[in-house]
Amino acid sequence: MSDRPTPEPIMQVAQGFMASKFLFAATETGLFEKLAPVPATLDEVAAGTGLPPRTARILVDGLVALGFVERENDRYRNAPVAEAFLAGRGPMDLRDFLRFWNRISYRRWEKLEEAVRTGKQLFGELEFTREEQEVFSKGVGAFTTGAAMAMAAAYDFKEHRRVIDVGGGTGNFLVILLGQHPHLEGTLFELPRTAAVARPTIAASPAAARIKVVEGDFFKDPLPEGHDAVILANVVHLFGPGRILDLLRTIRKRVPDGARLLLADFWTDATHTHPVFAALMAGEFLVNSGEGDVYSDDDARGWFAQTGWRFVERKPLAGPQSLVVAEGVK
Ligand SMILES: C[S@@+](CC[C@H](N)C(=O)[O-])C[C@H]1O[C@@H](n2cnc3c(N)ncnc32)[C@H](O)[C@@H]1O
Repeated sequence: MSDRPTPEPIMQVAQGFMASKFLFAATETGLFEKLAPVPATLDEVAAGTGLPPRTARILVDGLVALGFVERENDRYRNAPVAEAFLAGRGPMDLRDFLRFWNRISYRRWEKLEEAVRTGKQLFGELEFTREEQEVFSKGVGAFTTGAAMAMAAAYDFKEHRRVIDVGGGTGNFLVILLGQHPHLEGTLFELPRTAAVARPTIAASPAAARIKVVEGDFFKDPLPEGHDAVILANVVHLFGPGRILDLLRTIRKRVPDGARLLLADFWTDATHTHPVFAALMAGEFLVNSGEGDVYSDDDARGWFAQTGWRFVERKPLAGPQSLVVAEGVK
């Protein structure tokens, strides 16, 4: 066997955008919903999605090649992974996540080269039209639901009573957490435009009566007091160290000694290269917010030492997400 490199890894990575686009196009056209577990012919797929038969075939063949659709003779059905996460019939629904990456992230990534060349902020910080805001918030929520479910199970909430989710998006962490822990009460603290997306989701949840929504900007407005646990999920990656330190100090001032801070994020190893998914997400945060980045738990320990927190532990959550726990010290 030769140790000589082949161009294969280059070809695979370079072609990655084509695979993404096949997946996005399938989601946007409703292919996975239409492909019931009962196998369908191409004509049935075309009729169900409203696509021309020729292009339905191109789409479906690409998805067979990628392993999201299975073909048996002249009939097609969702592969188990697509049926579980992309058909709207499984316990977790990733369609909103793919919609967010297709409609917002993908377009912004065209500017990655400019972002790395200039280091400039190329888009207004989380500046979206109302429609984009809904796509963004629901998309983030769909992605982080796995981490929210894992956190509700992995961290012991017995000793806590009142949890605030700072920058809590659609409220999915609180809805899942309070759904599993009936003794808890929750507060969602969010910017008004995100709170508007969160309210209907929270209102429709069984925990609605125990979740209060408070609108505000955590860099300008006081956080509500009286909480013994703070969730800060996928927020620090939007900012550079300066604003992270400000935010951690602000939160510390508003909670008692001993309060717990639960940071769910794409925590990396010390080199910021593992997990791979997290290392690549640094590009997402760079194009989206200019100063965004991924961080290691060593970075977090450094911030805690300056802002009144002590590192307690790190636990895996779901996929590339993990949990860093800190405790408020005197
Ligand atoms: C990537 S999303 C994470 C949402 C949620 N925590 C999750 O993990 O699913 C970051 C959230 O921070 C909120 N956010 C950003 N800046 C904020 C600010 N200055 N004050 C309050 N919320 C803010 C955004 O509205 C957005 O919902």
